Amino acid sequence: MKDKVAIVTGAASGIGLAVSQVLAGAGALVVMADVNEEAGTREAEKIGGFFVEADLSRREGCRALADAALERFGRVDILVNNAGIQHVAPVEDFPEDKWDFMMSLMLTAPFLLTRYCWPGMKERRWGRVIHINSVHGLIASPFKVAYVSAKHGMSGLTKTTALEGGPFGITVNSICPAYVRTPLVDNQIADQARVNNLSSEEVIETIMLKNAAVKRLIEPDEIGRFVLFLCSEDASCVTGSMLTMDCGWTAT
Ligand SMILES: NC(=O)c1ccc[n+]([C@@H]2O[C@H](COP(=O)([O-])OP(=O)(O)OC[C@H]3O[C@@H](n4cnc5c(N)ncnc54)[C@H](O)[C@@H]3O)[C@@H](O)[C@H]2O)c1
Repeated sequence: MKDKVAIVTGAASGIGLAVSQVLAGAGALVVMADVNEEAGTREAEKIGGFFVEADLSRREGCRALADAALERFGRVDILVNNAGIQHVAPVEDFPEDKWDFMMSLMLTAPFLLTRYCWPGMKERRWGRVIHINSVHGLIASPFKVAYVSAKHGMSGLTKTTALEGGPFGITVNSICPAYVRTPLVDNQIADQARVNNLSSEEVIETIMLKNAAVKRLIEPDEIGRFVLFLCSEDASCVTGSMLTMDCGWTAT
């Protein structure tokens, strides 16, 4: 990855941080974008990343991120769209503002950043766009209407742009994980434990891993190494794919 420039969104925590660490370890110049300035600055310092504070739920934030990366490095070769949140509520109670926010952050931002990075990738005839999607880009669960809808939209974005990028050496893929051990999931475990009067271990076993053939949480750096493979030349014919790392969940 030497001399390749990568943007990773939501890079201050969890999967985005692990992807940044793996790409930096492989020699890439990593632009780490996040709304959390304190954690982002701290983590970027540790791996020699370039931190950009950006609220990616806003169009100006996406534009400013792309401009900052181009100003600093003159190019973007790899885009990892990762920033996302979860909100759980029945459809009739689902807050309308939360729907708008999640669509902006988890579907519109990946579209905008793809759009902004695309001309340079096309010109250089090489590019990698990787969306950190979810099993919920393929199947649904109740009470996650915005998350599932945004992730299914991300699947459409993946396939359409893969078709457009093929002739120009640009691949576009979605990684679709089941539960990964990150703060996003730790919060869900704590909530479920409280609501169901279970221990954290019981929540993981009886709720989160119910549909899993491999009975464990995925570690963030496993996603990082999957991203690294997709950035390699060996993966240049992998495009438009919804690549599951889901412990067998969608095989059921
Ligand atoms: N953890 C899982 O089990 C899991 C499974 C499948 C998919 N995913 C996906 O992986 C991605 C990362 O999740 P995670 O578990 O690492 O979460 P996380 O909460 O650990 O990290 C998310 C990061 O996104 C940042 N962020 C939030 N709002 C932002 C905004 N408006 N602008 C910029 N940055 C913002 C947060 O500050 C945080 O650093 C998400 O898209 C999520 O849907 C996670």
